[in-house]
Amino acid sequence: MLEDKKILVGVCGGIAAYKTADIVSRLKKKGAQVKVIMTASAREFVTPLTFQTLSQNYVATGLFSSPKNWEVEHISLARWADCVLIAPATANFIGKIWAGIADDLLTTTVMAVKAPVIMAPAMNTNMYSNELVQRNINALKNRGYQFVGPVEGRLACGETGEGKMEEPEKIVAFIHSTLNRDKDFDGRTVMITAGPTREALDPVRFLTNASSGRMGYSLAKAAAGRGARVVLISGPTQLEPPSGVELVRVESALEMYMAVMEYYPQCDVVLKAAAVSDYRPARKSGEKIKKSDDRLILEMERNPDILLELGKYKGNCILVGFAAESHNVEEYAREKIRKKNLDLIVANDITLEGAGFNTDTNVAAIIDSEGKAEYLPMMSKSELAHIILDKVAVLLKRQF
Ligand code: PMT
Repeated sequence: MLEDKKILVGVCGGIAAYKTADIVSRLKKKGAQVKVIMTASAREFVTPLTFQTLSQNYVATGLFSSPKNWEVEHISLARWADCVLIAPATANFIGKIWAGIADDLLTTTVMAVKAPVIMAPAMNTNMYSNELVQRNINALKNRGYQFVGPVEGRLACGETGEGKMEEPEKIVAFIHSTLNRDKDFDGRTVMITAGPTREALDPVRFLTNASSGRMGYSLAKAAAGRGARVVLISGPTQLEPPSGVELVRVESALEMYMAVMEYYPQCDVVLKAAAVSDYRPARKSGEKIKKSDDRLILEMERNPDILLELGKYKGNCILVGFAAESHNVEEYAREKIRKKNLDLIVANDITLEGAGFNTDTNVAAIIDSEGKAEYLPMMSKSELAHIILDKVAVLLKRQF
């Protein structure tokens, strides 16, 4: 439903600006309130009158032009919006937001906005694939900006390739799902485990792995944003916990096990993104182990498989596991979903670039308990988090 949603549309200078008129018209037909900001370059392509007529609202054009009402315009527009759409989003605009530059009405407004910001890029295919543009897009995705498109097609410059703005119908559908996913976890308790565990050998040495915690923290941020009470059980990481989550810090797999079991009875959903050590040293030395000329042989003992234990007492709780594999990814993931009694498993092939441990992005396949797999392209961990939550939301709805 877009009835009475307040959507602020920012139009940058690109030929796709003519399609933005269609987006505004569709949003109005769906009952949304629409206000438009046009940059100076956008006004070279389409006139404010077009957007004024379609949005039935005054079109804001400059930081220093007289506002319609007496208020600080970029702040009042930023406060007003439930969602901001930038279409077309040019390389210049994306770069400015990435760099924190606020030098006109649109950039200052976007900088001040707290609502979701969706960008629909449109540009020449070589510009789009330029490393700098890709770096800026990925960095913005990691900060929670959402991107829809571009798609492949024939571009205004005559070339064919990726860079064409996504179709208006799809952009409107994207806005719809962004706004309606908003609080779909209201009243739900979601437990997320994140990061590595540390298995101590002596007071200063431990065995661990390369998990940064980013996947788990992205899930925590996304779930909290969607209204859930979030319990984040985290191994040691360098990350700031997202605001509004209950953070429980642990070190070892045994500590993680205890914390998970304590909160489990309160949970509707458990998302196990942590990389838990399967083994721990059989003995922890009370003193720093001194080197000698002999080989050092470590005896290891098994840690509990936390997820396997959860699966035994699953009840109505939705259980989502992760599988980080370097070979036979799908086969092992399918084995885990069955053995651990999971609803979903997110399998990442850690041999792929941009996937798995200590990256901002991930490449994953999500497999459900009926064995249906969806292969996703490389995306930021925060985008993947929302896709995982979309699937969990469907499972939660099915329970009633
Ligand atoms: O933290 P990042 O740098 O962002 O990296 C993200 C990630 C690669 C760590 C994450 O996407 C991921 O794949 N996490 C699971 C890694 C892993 O340990 O997979 P596994 O195949 O060993 O374990 C399978 C599942 O069982 C996992 O959900 C794990 O949390 C759970 N498990 C494993 C062992 C154990 N003793 N107890 C568990 O609960």
